[in-house]
Amino acid sequence: MFANPIVVTLCLFASTVSATLHKSTKCPGGKYAARHQECCVFYELAEDLQENLFDRQCGEDTHEVLRLTFHDAIGYSKSGAGRGTGADGSMILYDYVETKYGANAGIDDSVDALKPYLSKYSVTAGDLIQFAGAVGVSNCPGAPRLEFYAGRPNAQYYADDGLIPEAQDSVDKILARMADAGFTPQELVHLLASHTVARADHVDPTKQHVPFDSTPFTFDTQFYLEVLLKGTGWPGSANNTGEVPSPIPQLGEMRLESDFAIARDSRTACEWQSMVDNQWLMMSNFRSAMAKMAVTGQDKSKMIDCSDAVPIPKLPALKFTTYPSGKGYKDVEKSCPAPFPYILPYIGKEKPIPACPDGSYDASKCGSDSS
Ligand code: HEM
Repeated sequence: MFANPIVVTLCLFASTVSATLHKSTKCPGGKYAARHQECCVFYELAEDLQENLFDRQCGEDTHEVLRLTFHDAIGYSKSGAGRGTGADGSMILYDYVETKYGANAGIDDSVDALKPYLSKYSVTAGDLIQFAGAVGVSNCPGAPRLEFYAGRPNAQYYADDGLIPEAQDSVDKILARMADAGFTPQELVHLLASHTVARADHVDPTKQHVPFDSTPFTFDTQFYLEVLLKGTGWPGSANNTGEVPSPIPQLGEMRLESDFAIARDSRTACEWQSMVDNQWLMMSNFRSAMAKMAVTGQDKSKMIDCSDAVPIPKLPALKFTTYPSGKGYKDVEKSCPAPFPYILPYIGKEKPIPACPDGSYDASKCGSDSS
């Protein structure tokens, strides 16, 4: 079932109305009013990031910073498998160590993009990363408005290598790693909604910006559907580590081995399937899981709720989840015993996946990092 857009809209605006009712403190300069004085800096930071980094787009910079929120936070182990204090900014503060890890290939783009904001604003590195992620995500039509709490102390040391899951890892290994950082298998599936606005630059060395679903600039459920479809080929070179055949390689889509396996594993398949056409459920699940991820390793009771500083996201596109052209239920590799929802067929001509948020195809003309 596609979520009722009216319900989605009301929910998105409910948080805004409640935020407005709570506003009390005027920030210096008088431009913003915040619930807490300590939050004022984040209103200015949001405006700067939107204007000078994200260009208010769900483009490459937004995608990269969203990935960074995970890679910073997951550097945490309850069992002592490695050192790391979670969402603590270590990725920026110790970039000379952490960006060299194999799992962090390409993360230096987002680290370099955020670093100047650390000297410009009085915020910690961990707060900067998680806040920037929430601001970036607000540019993706259909994304929930993410929670943001401020007050992460700066990391005192770097996170050890080996704590970030990799696409070639088995589901056993990924679930164990996530559990060790405090996450259930269901929460992992919820976090992977992030891959609906994602592309890979380093999985296939012959190709950059290879999207994981047919709508990489909108936060919709196509990703959960398309990962369940039978793979037929490669968008670029074959058999790269961490990559498996994609259902629509001819349109330029790539599929990660980890997404493929998690969508089909008995521990996660039903959670995955529950979101193939349920926009509202995906938004709400992602919001909760991100709220938890953003404070990994931190004491939330000592932090301040600055969620009002996160911009209101763009509304979801009024469209249903559809099978890609020529695909249908026959192509679904179903592992969950629950009935599969009815999905509409695609009507129209098959088109390559656009390279830019505005639907155009020339990646060199859409963003600072579109090489
Ligand atoms: C099992 C867990 C995960 C694995 C194995 C994984 C793996 C990957 C890989 C291999 C890439 C491509 C990187 C490149 O070549 O440029 C990627 C991209 C991305 N990932 Fe994940 N990921 C996982 C979970 C997450 C989570 C939890 C988030 C955020 C909450 C996230 C957000 C992203 C984003 C936004 C991108 C796109 C970056 C871009 O377009 O530049 N991932 N991921």
